[in-house]
Amino acid sequence: MTVIIDGKTLADEIVQNVAQEVSAFKLKNKVTPGLAVVLVGGDPASGVYVRNKIKRTEQAGFRSIAHYLPTATTQQQLDELIDQLNQDNSIHGILVQLPLPAHLSESRVIEAISPAKDVDGFHPENVGKLVTGQQALVPCTPLGCMIMLKRHIADLSGKHAVVIGRSNIVGKPIANLLLQSDCTVTVVHSRTQNIEEICRSADILVAAVGQPLMIKENWIKPGAVVIDVGINQTSSAGKRKLVGDVDYDAVFSKVSAITPVPGGVGPMTIACLMQNTLTAAQHQLN
Ligand code: GUN
Repeated sequence: MTVIIDGKTLADEIVQNVAQEVSAFKLKNKVTPGLAVVLVGGDPASGVYVRNKIKRTEQAGFRSIAHYLPTATTQQQLDELIDQLNQDNSIHGILVQLPLPAHLSESRVIEAISPAKDVDGFHPENVGKLVTGQQALVPCTPLGCMIMLKRHIADLSGKHAVVIGRSNIVGKPIANLLLQSDCTVTVVHSRTQNIEEICRSADILVAAVGQPLMIKENWIKPGAVVIDVGINQTSSAGKRKLVGDVDYDAVFSKVSAITPVPGGVGPMTIACLMQNTLTAAQHQLN
């Protein structure tokens, strides 16, 4: 019987736990952990994500401040805002929603954020620590994927994990986290030869490509555990629908466990953002 890995229930558990820790943190320090979320431009999907991050973190007891900047914001204006947030003692976490408008440099913005407040775990200092196995703020979506996998597989050691996609946000960090958990890791991408054959040898398949329903039944090893990071808007017969990178219905009976879309990885990302913001606040006050 295939297990549906319920990210919503697991995320609710994590959020409840974080909310309790936030209450204790406030009592102990007389400070509310603060998160600043910066959105440049009017991309509708990013707007939905940012408003959701603000609302959910506030519900858990954080003080969350949104900075909505126009598309025409200059690099210098963005640098100045980041600088101001870095120096603001009431802000413990800073998240700049990506992608940025084309005239702004993502790497320059990421490097401007203080590594201690980098709740996305994108700063090269945090990336370097993750790769070398040191304590670091770890990107939220990969962290959420690992929590789901560890709940489902008692021992990841020696498992062949195939990650589809090599982005800095998901593919690369999750490959490193899987490696830390003693998996044998293969990263495949748009230039990989024999991609289907490699995927068919995966005990764990993590799909993070942003291509709706790309992974079909013949890509899957029987009994594999599938984590679908894709959240793709599609429409059929005028009805809008969210689908993953994996053809869920087609692979369902072949896998041992799979994350649904929606309700899988998505809710875990926000839960892990809260966990990271709390961790960042704890480190800054200790
Ligand atoms: N855009 C898509 N995913 C993310 C994320 O995890 N963090 C940020 N900052 N931007 C994103």
